[in-house]
Amino acid sequence: MDKKSVLLITGGVAIALALFISIAVDHPFPDFYTRPAVVGPEAAPHGEGMIEMYASEAIAAEEAAAPAEPEKPQSPYAEAIAAADEETFPKTIAMAADAYAEHTKPIVQFTHAKHVIDYMAGCGACHHNEDGEPLDDLQVGDEAAKCIDCHSKPSEPPKGKDAPDLSPAEALEYHAEALHQNCKNCHVAYNKENNTRAAPTSCTKCHVK
Ligand code: HEC
Ligand code: HEC
Ligand code: HEC
Ligand code: HEC
Repeated sequence: MDKKSVLLITGGVAIALALFISIAVDHPFPDFYTRPAVVGPEAAPHGEGMIEMYASEAIAAEEAAAPAEPEKPQSPYAEAIAAADEETFPKTIAMAADAYAEHTKPIVQFTHAKHVIDYMAGCGACHHNEDGEPLDDLQVGDEAAKCIDCHSKPSEPPKGKDAPDLSPAEALEYHAEALHQNCKNCHVAYNKENNTRAAPTSCTKCHVK
């Protein structure tokens, strides 16, 4: 034999071997032989029962490998909010408290309904009573006091080197301080926990022109 035919023969053998192995890997023999025989009425002629059995097993295996997405939890308030009018539950609130002589920053459009329904915030995350205790039992349809009724100084706390040293409670008398703490503290915590920047923490992301 010359060199060329030796090469051709070994090449052919290698290809045949590769084909055989790839088929064998896809359909391992032992598995094939240890399957329970399909007998009785289910056993169709020409091995259809076998094909069906393989198909249903393949589907079951696929389902086991890719479990269904866990259902997104539903806000318990979603239905009541959808049914409520703007008077009862304002869905978006232009944050412009009347007591301010003027707003120096662009007005924040606060997505009230989205925060409850999409971001799953409970009422008590923002609304509380005169002792500062969260109103977790507030229901859609109940009245809620405005923040400025209690955090009644319409501005940020004074800043600069001549500014008085305020206790945390004194600082919270300022409306903008109470709002900034409420909104930003949750956003910062949420972003940290979820390794994201989805909840805005910079001035112009809330005070949008
Ligand atoms: C993420 C914060 C947040 C959550 C959660 C939240 N609210 Fe509010 N809500 C506000 C803010 C801020 C206002 C505007 C208050 C203001 O103008 O001083 C407001 C306003 C309201 C008002 C109108 C008050 C008025 O007279 O203008 C009602 C009623 C109300 N909320 C009810 C609810 C109920 C019920 C829930 C729970 C289903 C809820 N809120 C959840 C922040 C929140
Ligand atoms: C009925 C009066 C009242 C209303 C209305 C009110 N607050 Fe308060 N808030 C308080 C009191 C009292 C405290 C506790 C003060 C302290 O600890 O020094 C407090 C504390 C806070 C604090 C600091 C403690 C905390 O919970 O993080 C924030 C922030 C705050 N309020 C934001 C708001 C916002 C935003 C609104 C409107 C959605 C609001 N408050 C409505 C009385 C009120
Ligand atoms: C209890 C937690 C919580 C509080 C309190 C909260 N937020 Fe948010 N907010 C979120 C989360 C979570 C997102 C972003 C979710 C996302 O996009 O994945 C968000 C997103 C936003 C966004 C961008 C998306 C949108 O819906 O417009 C704005 C603006 C915003 N918040 C404003 C506010 C303001 C103003 C306040 C205070 C009155 C506030 N938030 C209080 C949790 C909170
Ligand atoms: C998470 C949203 C958010 C972020 C971030 C934010 N603010 Fe605010 N800010 C508010 C809300 C809500 C009010 C309350 C306005 C009202 O109800 O009248 C407010 C009020 C104010 C006020 C008083 C009202 C006015 O327009 O004069 C000033 C000043 C202010 N913010 C400045 C800032 C600055 C500066 C930054 C950045 C360092 C900032 N804010 C970041 C939400 C935000």
